[in-house]
Amino acid sequence: MREMEKQWAESVAEKIYCKVSVTAERNQHKIPYTTNDGVFDDWSDRIGWWTNGFFGGQLWLLYHAFGYEQFRTVAEEIEEKLDRNLMDYQGMDHDSGFRWLMTAVANYRLTGNQSSRNRGLLAAANLAGRFNLAGGFIRAWNDGGSGENAGWAIIDCMMNLPLLYWASEQTNDDRFAQIARAHADTARQAFIRADGSANHIVEFDTKSGKRIRSLGGQGMKEGSSWTRGQSWALYGFSLSYRHTVDKKYLDTAQKIATYILSQIPDSGIISVDFCQPDDCDWEDSSAASIMACGFLELEQHVDIEQGQVYHEAALRLLHTLEEKRCCFDDKIDHIVENCTAAYNDKHHNFAIIYADYFFTEAILRLCGKNLFLW
Ligand code: GLY
Repeated sequence: MREMEKQWAESVAEKIYCKVSVTAERNQHKIPYTTNDGVFDDWSDRIGWWTNGFFGGQLWLLYHAFGYEQFRTVAEEIEEKLDRNLMDYQGMDHDSGFRWLMTAVANYRLTGNQSSRNRGLLAAANLAGRFNLAGGFIRAWNDGGSGENAGWAIIDCMMNLPLLYWASEQTNDDRFAQIARAHADTARQAFIRADGSANHIVEFDTKSGKRIRSLGGQGMKEGSSWTRGQSWALYGFSLSYRHTVDKKYLDTAQKIATYILSQIPDSGIISVDFCQPDDCDWEDSSAASIMACGFLELEQHVDIEQGQVYHEAALRLLHTLEEKRCCFDDKIDHIVENCTAAYNDKHHNFAIIYADYFFTEAILRLCGKNLFLW
């Protein structure tokens, strides 16, 4: 069974490789977020945008798996462009993990490049500096100095914590990991609901540290269940378990997994919010791709029987994506279709670069060719 799956994953990996060899050449100086009429846009001039590491990350994964030099060249150019962000204090937010694990740290892991290591450590130091000691959380976004967002933390940040775990390993200094664990502890208490679903945003009092309220954020509304947020929670807590071996993070990841498994429809298509009305056809294939990666990670940390449940869930999501939501035509730049940034946005069901990244990661993992970046 696993041999057939591996063959399937290898054939999909080959299709990704063939396509990205063409699209990376055609878009070699861009940092894409989405496509317009099938053509990647370019965020090089909006360098602080949180998704600007994912194209580089996908290229490092493919460089590691297939050894094609062009992937490395394009990824290195993106890493250098990101220095403008790293040197702009106001432009730095909590998504440093998404930007520098995928670029500089990936480069360092593969090549030992010391400038890349330095970038990763500077990004980690900035992320650690966003920690609010009273509330035990990492501040999410900036607000131009007004302070109105100073007490906001978001579930997505669980995915940025691996940058801190990495920095502690690199420096033999536990401070970074202590901050990561403190944030994860707060997130367990303040974000995860009794049924295993996750809030998107929680606001804390910045001085007393008290939890004030939760907000719906990019989901349908307060109290609903934004699917990408559920995926960040699933994968994020699984990763905190991998890095700390602290059982409470594993228990939390499994609780989230149980909730997600109860919500995935027979179609395997993931909506933007698990609570959205049945007649709403807004989808988020990025949530499906991240969820698959989360299940494949969690599978590593549980017994064989439970692991099989998570493995099958990941496969179902990936097969659905490959059959129904992927484009392998190399005249079109994106691979994964039908993603949504936020439920209440005007625009839905379009391509977003991180879906391509996580789909690639999951497929390479199934082939045994993955470069672990978290
Ligand atoms: N981290 C923001 C998002 O998932 O859209």
